[in-house]
Amino acid sequence: MSDIKNVNYGLEKIFKDAKDFLPLLGTDYIEFYVGNAKQAAHYYKTAFGFQSAAYKGLETGCKEFASYVLKQDKIRLVLTTPLNSSSPINQHLAKHGDGVKVVALWVEDAKKSWEETTKRGAKSFMEPTVEKDEHGEVVRAGIYTYGETVHMFVERKNYNGIFLPGYEKWESDYNPSSVGLKYVDHMVGNVGWNEMNTWVKWYEDVMGFVNFLSFDDKQIHTEYSALMSKVMSNGNGRIKFPINEPAEGKKRSQIEEYLDYYEGPGVQHIAVATDDIIKTVAQLRERGIEFLSTPPEEYYNAAPGRLEEHNHELQEDLKVLMSLGIMIDADEEGYLLQIFTKPVEDRPTLFFEIIQRMGAKGFGAGNFKALFESIEREQAKRGTL
Ligand code: FE2
Repeated sequence: MSDIKNVNYGLEKIFKDAKDFLPLLGTDYIEFYVGNAKQAAHYYKTAFGFQSAAYKGLETGCKEFASYVLKQDKIRLVLTTPLNSSSPINQHLAKHGDGVKVVALWVEDAKKSWEETTKRGAKSFMEPTVEKDEHGEVVRAGIYTYGETVHMFVERKNYNGIFLPGYEKWESDYNPSSVGLKYVDHMVGNVGWNEMNTWVKWYEDVMGFVNFLSFDDKQIHTEYSALMSKVMSNGNGRIKFPINEPAEGKKRSQIEEYLDYYEGPGVQHIAVATDDIIKTVAQLRERGIEFLSTPPEEYYNAAPGRLEEHNHELQEDLKVLMSLGIMIDADEEGYLLQIFTKPVEDRPTLFFEIIQRMGAKGFGAGNFKALFESIEREQAKRGTL
């Protein structure tokens, strides 16, 4: 399964002749709707090493909601909670629990991004809106993607404030250190039965993305469950959104479990990159982050052979990787190291992936089996397999 050959990673080639109508500069922020943003912020600082950045709430004159902005290198999280029962955020929380509402994309021109995508069939979430304060102005506009999830286009070239107009710098006396998380590598969405190709087409038609990697249920399965996945990328390769749908198996797959508990499609995991996964994961474990169980010893015995097949040499100590439960996958271009947390809410929905790329551009297909068996052990404990 790790030997997925003839994969065309040459995005530049695919896009050579096409005009990118939606140039994306990167991920701007990821906004979560949560039941208690103050406590969630403490968790992401203490356990994940995020830093206090900005705040909006009662103290800044906002009476509807409170938002905490957290940063770690290029990753920006926004945790938002409603301040009264009439806020529409409550319906989202009641239905989905804590989860990702907005995947915001940094653009040169938010109005044009909204026009180009809505013209191609996107449903609007927010028309282009200019927000101003003494630091300049930001233009934002949003469209719906799968489920109730939103892509917000953020144009901030005329702004030099801390985050967005209306936010104040969040000065805190409690500042745990970073764990070395650098940027968002990819974000995965789970969609319903037979909906994957609909959303693949949506990303192609509406966002101008291309499907550059696909896995079917023959490749992604265990004894009990299966899923299908297609990876979508924008023109410059900075934004990658794999999309999963469940496939028939003997038992309930993790994708079905997600759809049942999130009550619909949504963001399944956020993969964040580090350039020292051993140090990062050791610190995360010390700070109480729970990871899926470590693959069995046979998995690690087979790992060097899998690297050799592709003529790569492991630079890390295999024993250390095993002791931390970090998985290894290789392709023609290099290898990658990755590990997955357990869901970070009580509902078995959103989780995080920590990834270090050593040349490989894939998503750990060679680890899918070991990973899903580990998830199935957790599902069995929850009675949802
Ligand atoms: Fe991933």
